[in-house]
Amino acid sequence: MQEGYLTMKRNSILAVLLSTAVMLGLVLTVTAGLSLAETPAPVADQNATSATVEYTLVTGGGTGQLVFVGRGGEIDGVVNPTLTARPGDVVKITLINEDGMLHDLVIDEFNAATRQFADRGEQDSITFTANRSGTFVYYCSVPGHKAAGMFGQLIVGTAAAAAEEGADIVRDPSDVPPPVGDRPPQTVEVDLVAEEVLGQLADGTVMTYFTFNGTVPGPMIRVRVGDTVVVNFRNASSSQFPHSVDFHAATGPGGGAVFSNLGPGEETTFSFKALNPGLYVYHCATPSVAHHITMGMYGLILVEPEGGLPEVDREFYVMQGEIYTEEPYGTTGYVNFSHEKMLAEQPEYFVFNGAANALTRDEHLMRANLGETVRLYFGVGGPNFISSFHVIGEIFDRVYDQASLTSPPLTDVQTTLVPAGGAAMIEFKTEVPGRYILVDHALSRAERGLMGFLMVDGEPQPEIFDGTPTHGSGH
Ligand code: CU
Ligand code: CU
Repeated sequence: MQEGYLTMKRNSILAVLLSTAVMLGLVLTVTAGLSLAETPAPVADQNATSATVEYTLVTGGGTGQLVFVGRGGEIDGVVNPTLTARPGDVVKITLINEDGMLHDLVIDEFNAATRQFADRGEQDSITFTANRSGTFVYYCSVPGHKAAGMFGQLIVGTAAAAAEEGADIVRDPSDVPPPVGDRPPQTVEVDLVAEEVLGQLADGTVMTYFTFNGTVPGPMIRVRVGDTVVVNFRNASSSQFPHSVDFHAATGPGGGAVFSNLGPGEETTFSFKALNPGLYVYHCATPSVAHHITMGMYGLILVEPEGGLPEVDREFYVMQGEIYTEEPYGTTGYVNFSHEKMLAEQPEYFVFNGAANALTRDEHLMRANLGETVRLYFGVGGPNFISSFHVIGEIFDRVYDQASLTSPPLTDVQTTLVPAGGAAMIEFKTEVPGRYILVDHALSRAERGLMGFLMVDGEPQPEIFDGTPTHGSGH
């Protein structure tokens, strides 16, 4: 934290002298009569000049984006800089409006908020005592602005919490097994390991996940109808909980869960015959089942029909879930599971592939070229929320509704409902290059981490979509 503290702009030695003098003054009142009494006790000055830490943030800062940019000192030019203070510091943060849009600056935990103002050059500040340690979020409370990127951290005390890092538990959406194609039924072995992992839920936020094979969702499994699936299932010895696996693709009690409830370090094998083609969810079925699912124990198994599926250019594997933490959305450090919020069905996070905004990050983007046909294997782990699945800017040419591969697909669909514990197979051709955004059209969830990007590369197609900007650059 020392390093962070050095980035502060202190209000000169005067402030230190003043506060020292105040302390001395206090001492003197109780030990009156000492010779030092000739030092006049200063009048405590609690207005802005008493701030021990000062920062200035400007809106936009010439980036053209909805962000705060540091002004002056070590944070000069830094987008959404991390601000630091010591417990007990009087912190003053000045906000200068530079982009002419309505903004404010709020830190909930300290009841600190500037006015909302939109005039270029106008400014306001907050001053508060950092009377508690921890990592706090400063943000713009104008609706949508925090989600668009107007937020950063204030760390009071040790910076350890913010530095906490977990494993990348995100299953890459491109991690899809090759097509089964046209082959006779056979026996397929599948290895699944229940692993509890300290994983990265969001920037600066870690959580203990329950996973199959270390990622969320677990591996996509691909077989064909008539195959015998042999499941080698193990619960890692480092686990704290028993785990199991229930295949919706299996016909039989508990979908296999009755044979597979294992304590830490145990392993077993069971098998089932894939009688029905389709795209099926599998998940842990150990009580509290909802708890094990929300922590990440779900995946998809594709049972291809006889002869296989039509060929496509790109296939992606995406699953939606929701996460119930005690701490509010955006809190950094280690966050804890809340059983109460789970029972009340009030999640803090909604996620594709396990982590907040995971599929908007460079390392997990979906990519396709213009003119290619894209197929999404989309499932909902949940445990509780239905998805109104939608891709902004695309129309689904074909939706295999409810993941039924033996019914004719729906055609020309804008948004498709996918139930908790269900799936859909979705196909469309890319006709215009650009960035397409996967969402649940219950769009509040996009502000709680539920978003993914499909990038389509290629030449502009103005006869289909004329994207020439006519009024500056928007978002
Ligand atoms: Cu489990
Ligand atoms: Cu189930």
